Amino acid sequence: SATEPLRVMISGAPASGKGTQCEMIAQKFGVVHISTGDILRAEVSAGTEIGNKAKEYMNSGRLVPDEIVTAMVTTRLSLKDVKEKGWLLDGYPRSSAQAESLEKWSIRPDIYVMLEVPDDVLIDRCVGRRLDPLTGKIYHVKNFPPENEEIKDRLVTRPDDTEEKVKSRLEIYKRNVESILSTYSDVMVKINGNRAKEVVFEEINSLLLRLQKDKEEKSKSG
Ligand code: AP5
Repeated sequence: SATEPLRVMISGAPASGKGTQCEMIAQKFGVVHISTGDILRAEVSAGTEIGNKAKEYMNSGRLVPDEIVTAMVTTRLSLKDVKEKGWLLDGYPRSSAQAESLEKWSIRPDIYVMLEVPDDVLIDRCVGRRLDPLTGKIYHVKNFPPENEEIKDRLVTRPDDTEEKVKSRLEIYKRNVESILSTYSDVMVKINGNRAKEVVFEEINSLLLRLQKDKEEKSKSG
């Protein structure tokens, strides 16, 4: 039978490096990167109904209501490319209700990667973060400055990346994380995210390569 594609969840506090790692994972493994934060920001800038509803929550650093985000994710997961290439869920599930929705549809990951980074580092990463609206690429004023002046001139700051809002996002994250972990404890791997991004990726890469190999073996024997 055909090899089953990878199904990966990545979690961690705001600015723990989820988006940065997902860029590298998606490029190497060809999985479909589904970031609820990215989808919501696109809805906001396009001024859609979902975007208009989500905007206030996002700008103040609170979670967008479960039903909005869950509908978005389940729709995306039902598309054909996901069945062929597998998925990489970034920023979802973020509440116990969201985790339960996935369980109800028997949508489970092969691995649940959790990036761990100290609080003070997270705040510095958020405050220094810049986004390229053209390519979606993530930069940091000190850690990852833009390649040239042209890119530099078009970089934008997220409205929820002020120190005050980061602190409240972190609080909300900490309040919710425990209730989700129990659902995925059997496939959870904690990774020290407070290292160079290439070093963090190397660790994720070897975990995913092993999973992929297991799946290939299984399809040969099955
Ligand atoms: P979302 O976009 O998911 O924000 P988040 O979880 O707060 O995560 P971030 O995007 O801030 O950080 P990241 O971990 O991706 O880090 P990054 O790689 O960018 O959500 C935004 C909002 O949308 C939420 O607040 C909520 O309102 C709503 N929302 C989203 N999902 C939802 C859901 N499921 N339910 C309800 N509401 C939802 O890196 C950060 C910075 O650090 C960058 O500058 C980067 O260059 C730098 N950096 C990365 N890695 C390293 C490294 N190894 N060393 C040094 N610097 C690094």
